[in-house]
Amino acid sequence: MTVRDAVMAGIAKQLGHPSGLRGRFIGMLLNRGNRAFVAAAVQALQPRTAGEVADVGFGGAVGLQLLLDSVNPPDLVHGVEISDTMLARAARRYRREIAGGHLTLQQGSLTQLPFDDGQLSGVITVNTIYFVAELDRAFAELARVVSRSGRIVVGLADPDVMAALPTTRHGFHLRPVAEVMETLRRAGLAVEHRRLDRSHLPAHLLICTPASPSG
Ligand SMILES: C[S@@+](CC[C@H](N)C(=O)[O-])C[C@H]1O[C@@H](n2cnc3c(N)ncnc32)[C@H](O)[C@@H]1O
Repeated sequence: MTVRDAVMAGIAKQLGHPSGLRGRFIGMLLNRGNRAFVAAAVQALQPRTAGEVADVGFGGAVGLQLLLDSVNPPDLVHGVEISDTMLARAARRYRREIAGGHLTLQQGSLTQLPFDDGQLSGVITVNTIYFVAELDRAFAELARVVSRSGRIVVGLADPDVMAALPTTRHGFHLRPVAEVMETLRRAGLAVEHRRLDRSHLPAHLLICTPASPSG
């Protein structure tokens, strides 16, 4: 492995599971680079006045802030992460919101979410599915935790553009958008596809609602 490969592998690992000092730095960069993308996901979620919403894999936590600041703030925002470093960073930054009962932070994974069936009215997960091998299981979990009138927004950068980046060959699961949509449908979700034409990295929002029993 060349030095460049080793550096790229290190960055890829941090993006999938930020940890330690480097992870905190990655959290800052994620917030800066992904703010507009995450904001588009929050806007597509259209949080309602009532209900609980979650950002799964919140990273630097810009999504938590945007959910808390929604035009119609939800009753409760949940942040779920696998990374201790991201959880600790968010716990410090949002201690007032947590103390005020507006936000909870929980360790968990897309494939095993710490929520009851139908507990949430909305979930976003942005730039996370590249790190999940068992996508069927993750989407079944998302479908399980949203209510019948709920909504799930999955954000992913364009897989063809991602494939050309030097980090993504180190363990990323890059799947065609059509395959991701098909996996969402298999989880019992109806899917609307929106493209985001970001100049540096085009992206996709998959806006999902529980499919009607006949559909
Ligand atoms: C590239 S970052 C994206 C962070 C943020 N959503 C954004 O778009 O800026 C990916 C995040 O997903 C988290 N993650 C990876 N696998 C996960 C899983 N199975 N469940 C929940 N979070 C996960 C990582 O810890 C990391 O913070």
